[in-house]
Amino acid sequence: MTATDRPLFAVPPGTVYLDSAAQGPRLHAVLAAGHAALDASIAPWRLGSAQWREAIERVRTLAAGCLDGDAEGVALVPSAAFGLAIAASNIPLSRGDVVAVLDGQFPSNLLCWQQRCAETGAHLHGIERGGDGWTGAVLEALDRTPAIRVLTLPHAYWHDGALLDLDAISARCQQGDVSLVLDLSQSLGALPVDLARWKPDFVVSVGHKWMLGPTGLAYLWAAPHWRAHGVSIEQHWTARAVDDWRFPVDAATPWRHGARRFDAGGITDPLRLSMAEAALGQLHDWGLASLPERLGGRTRALDAALRDAGLEACVADGHAPHFTGVRVPAERMDAVGTALDAAGIVCTRRHGLLRVAPHLHVDEADMTHVAETIAAAMRG
Ligand SMILES: Cc1ncc(COP(=O)(O)O)c(C=O)c1O
Repeated sequence: MTATDRPLFAVPPGTVYLDSAAQGPRLHAVLAAGHAALDASIAPWRLGSAQWREAIERVRTLAAGCLDGDAEGVALVPSAAFGLAIAASNIPLSRGDVVAVLDGQFPSNLLCWQQRCAETGAHLHGIERGGDGWTGAVLEALDRTPAIRVLTLPHAYWHDGALLDLDAISARCQQGDVSLVLDLSQSLGALPVDLARWKPDFVVSVGHKWMLGPTGLAYLWAAPHWRAHGVSIEQHWTARAVDDWRFPVDAATPWRHGARRFDAGGITDPLRLSMAEAALGQLHDWGLASLPERLGGRTRALDAALRDAGLEACVADGHAPHFTGVRVPAERMDAVGTALDAAGIVCTRRHGLLRVAPHLHVDEADMTHVAETIAAAMRG
């Protein structure tokens, strides 16, 4: 059994919170940073623009440390949808081109492509999950549909943590002329990232799930080409290189350098920035490389206990280390839900699946208890 980091988290006693895929559990350090920022907000004149510029750069650098370490590549945006809309509006598309997504993919990585396809005459293709998971189905789609110009994917499928092999998929994209866009909202902070190998055009992640920060602050990584040539979907002064608040009418104010040209309005919020800084600091203190194995210990304990209870077939195949899906027959879902509520176990229940997404505030013994609760309610 691995040590729990429960004391670092502000999860209320009596609750087994297993919904990190919706919202990461709150760290005490993040809560304290938020409280301090709110306290400081009574005297805004004490917070100069140099200070919030510095806070933005600290958060940018910490977020880059979860990607490829290069702060020049990272912009701060309010949501995954915002970052993905930037990707969709910049990558060239014309009539007859195909954009491929996963069937049932999270809407923030679907709606912007629907819109862009409608504008350009490109076609949107939903890849169906194959019998052996997503990777084979994606590779087959690339083989069968040479018109695919954009492939926009997660690393772990949001319903059940099913993993995609981004090494294999990105290699195939690079053989053809396919732009890869990644929504890592369900993996950044929990799974390793290899951008040098994957060579995506854009990468997005929310900050409030596995990155353990506040809602309303997400991260957009842009490949070097887009740092030099990309255009945002809004024109906000934060993204422009000006120190004296003079914006001439007859000349465009130059962009700030790197991916800062995509920095969005609203990110100059001391509350969210200070909470994000505390969260990212904790991730780096743990060591990002250690998290897949530590989080994986939790889901392995769940899988093993479900297997012991004879429920092996209920566990999603090939799931990521950090979260999984447990299939529940429709007629037992209400009973399972009632048992989970009674035991204070919180997880997402959707489409016949329990999405079980622990973090380091729970340990293997908690996960065994969760499996026993599910198994007892399934048996009735
Ligand atoms: C895969 C994935 N992408 C994105 C999001 C959130 O996107 P947005 O910030 O646009 O609400 C979620 C969950 O909320 C998600 O599961």
